[in-house]
Amino acid sequence: MSNPSILILPGDGIGPEVMTEVRKVITWFGEGRDIQFDVSEALVGGAAYDKHGVPLTDETMAHAQEVDAVLLGAVGGPAYDDLDFSVKPERGLLRLRKEMDLYANLRPAQCFDALADFSSLKKEIVSGLDIMILRELTSGVYFGEPRGIFEEGNERVGINTQRYTESEIERAARSAFELAMRRNKKVCSMEKANVMESGILWREVTTRVGKDYPEVELSHMYADNGAMQLVRAPKQFDVILTDNLFGDILSDCAAMLTGSLGMLPSASLGAPMANGRPKAMYEPVHGSAPDIAGQGKANPIACTSALRWRCATALIWATRPPAWKAPLRKCLPTVPARRICWEKTASTRFRPAKWATPLWQPCRTASNPRRPEIKRPCLKRPCAGFCRARERGRQRPLFLWLHTFFCGS
Ligand SMILES: NC(=O)c1ccc[n+]([C@@H]2O[C@H](COP(=O)([O-])OP(=O)(O)OC[C@H]3O[C@@H](n4cnc5c(N)ncnc54)[C@H](O)[C@@H]3O)[C@@H](O)[C@H]2O)c1
Repeated sequence: MSNPSILILPGDGIGPEVMTEVRKVITWFGEGRDIQFDVSEALVGGAAYDKHGVPLTDETMAHAQEVDAVLLGAVGGPAYDDLDFSVKPERGLLRLRKEMDLYANLRPAQCFDALADFSSLKKEIVSGLDIMILRELTSGVYFGEPRGIFEEGNERVGINTQRYTESEIERAARSAFELAMRRNKKVCSMEKANVMESGILWREVTTRVGKDYPEVELSHMYADNGAMQLVRAPKQFDVILTDNLFGDILSDCAAMLTGSLGMLPSASLGAPMANGRPKAMYEPVHGSAPDIAGQGKANPIACTSALRWRCATALIWATRPPAWKAPLRKCLPTVPARRICWEKTASTRFRPAKWATPLWQPCRTASNPRRPEIKRPCLKRPCAGFCRARERGRQRPLFLWLHTFFCGS
């Protein structure tokens, strides 16, 4: 059986820094667990523009279409702010999403108990939170035509078009219902059907698709109310289905409920390839953080969580015999809980411990300076809080839904 193939696109700013940690984990998988990946690397965003004059070359695009998964760091930065729109770093990312047809963007918002105090909301509102936002990613106002800045009379006018076809809505809706079937069987669809025709169509199509999933409770909500409900009572949601624009905003809002954007992963999945697995790109939710780039402060947990453990697991689960699954199932939930210790400071949202040390090493914080060092992953000592939450069924490890998404069981 061939090894799963991964294309690493570090990108700009802290992207290469967090990807260095991903590389370490891939190496650890190979050396410590004899799980090998075929890893390749290429440029994207500003780094690709600097070398090739475009944010994504055709060769990289073609390669991305062939691999099992793309791992992307982050793109963009102030150095590229004045570039023409067509060669801005973000165009590289949008091209990847569009040409790989990654229509389902899965953005979880899970609050680890150890981090509940970092949320700007009260602990009881966010503790145990576990919601999944499914954002349609390849259509809507970010791609609709006509678009541009035009002269109209004596002034200029900026135009973007919100456009959705029934089939685009339907495939996103089906992904959301499939996800919900493996979670708490609730889908809340958010749009602005009160003022937008595309919202009316969105509501009609999701209602129709919902009839194929009678076990799933479908509700509809205007997106502005959804934003309010997310900060008022986020635990009422299980799966939130929404379009590209509202998903962009709502998922950032939901992410902050957990205490920080910096620790959340995201997966963008598309139609199945010839081997039956969907095309996939994994990214951290955060951007290139130019303010801390090169200072060794970047927290790699989002990138490593999403791109290393989850992606690697999904690939392994999809390609390896069942014997692999038990040890992975046992060990993975303990790892994120181990690596979520950092100090909050006034200047940055969190100050990571020395990331050059092994990633899974618990960090010494000001409040807990005597915390023992663990020199290598100790998978037998799970974080008690995390496991208690799991036992109570309040937290579902991300890898479970990725697995179910990939493997359908
Ligand atoms: N997917 C992407 O590649 C992506 C996403 C968002 C923004 N961007 C780009 O990134 C650039 C900066 O955008 P921004 O400042 O709005 O958002 P950002 O997420 O890069 O940074 C926001 C704040 O969070 C901090 N931060 C983010 N990730 C962190 C981490 N891993 N560890 C520690 N601190 C972290 C940053 O220091 C900053 O203070 C822009 O050019 C933007 O276009 C790219």
